[in-house]
Amino acid sequence: MNIVVTGGTSGIGRALAELCVRKGHKTGVTGRRGELLEEIRAASGGKIETAEMDVTDCGRARLQLLELVKRMGGADIIVLNAGAGRLNPRLDWDEERKVIETNTLGFAATALAAYKYFADKGGGHIAGISSVAGLRGSSRAPAYSASKAFVSNYLEGLRFHAAYLGLPITVTDVRPGFVRTAMTKPLKNVFWMSEPDEAARQIYTALLKKKKCAYVTRRWRLAACLLQNLPDFIYERF
Ligand SMILES: NC(=O)c1ccc[n+]([C@@H]2O[C@H](COP(=O)([O-])OP(=O)(O)OC[C@H]3O[C@@H](n4cnc5c(N)ncnc54)[C@H](OP(=O)(O)O)[C@@H]3O)[C@@H](O)[C@H]2O)c1
Repeated sequence: MNIVVTGGTSGIGRALAELCVRKGHKTGVTGRRGELLEEIRAASGGKIETAEMDVTDCGRARLQLLELVKRMGGADIIVLNAGAGRLNPRLDWDEERKVIETNTLGFAATALAAYKYFADKGGGHIAGISSVAGLRGSSRAPAYSASKAFVSNYLEGLRFHAAYLGLPITVTDVRPGFVRTAMTKPLKNVFWMSEPDEAARQIYTALLKKKKCAYVTRRWRLAACLLQNLPDFIYERF
């Protein structure tokens, strides 16, 4: 099986790409940091194919993703993992805009390129990395939580679209809780923080099982259920 991971230069994406290589898959990785991509490719002994791309440059990113898939001789699973997120308690617009552009426009552009590739091919598997944060609004990162709700909703739309057309395209919505990466470094007092390798293992298992939705780590399903049902006055304090 050939697997592509967008945003594979660090954190969850890198751990997942490296796991895929260890499992014997031909693996493709994308990101903006060209030097890191080269490092990752070299460390894999050439088993990882790479493509430098910025998902916010939507038109180009779509072509670059498809060009990578072609170079790999095709893809069976495309994991849309590239994403941005930072705390923004002062609600600075430029910060909000970067997150929205990356996690909504950039996500949809690449997800749709992947979907159309699989539709033309006659089947395949798309996974998107949303977040438990997408289940409720966040006072300190409103663009991030809203953008992750977009990711989950968009994936569900693609799943229904494939079902409507009778296309054998699997769509997996991966919803991580906290994972120790550059993105979560500024966060204080967090709980249930998992390591990228553990998150990668659980994502990989979810992919093999063709899950519709996977919480990572699994116990975040319980927290998600609580979060969704907490009344506003308690949630606001939490
Ligand atoms: N860590 C968590 O607790 C957590 C929880 C829930 C969901 N997530 C989601 O998991 C995904 C991975 O995040 P992470 O925690 O592993 O953080 P990370 O280490 O910062 O990784 C983010 C990845 O996305 C890529 N990326 C960011 N902006 C991009 C752009 N404009 N174009 C192309 N690639 C871009 C980065 O590569 P370059 O910088 O090289 O471009 C990097 O490889 C994200 O979608 C994030 O929202 C993380």
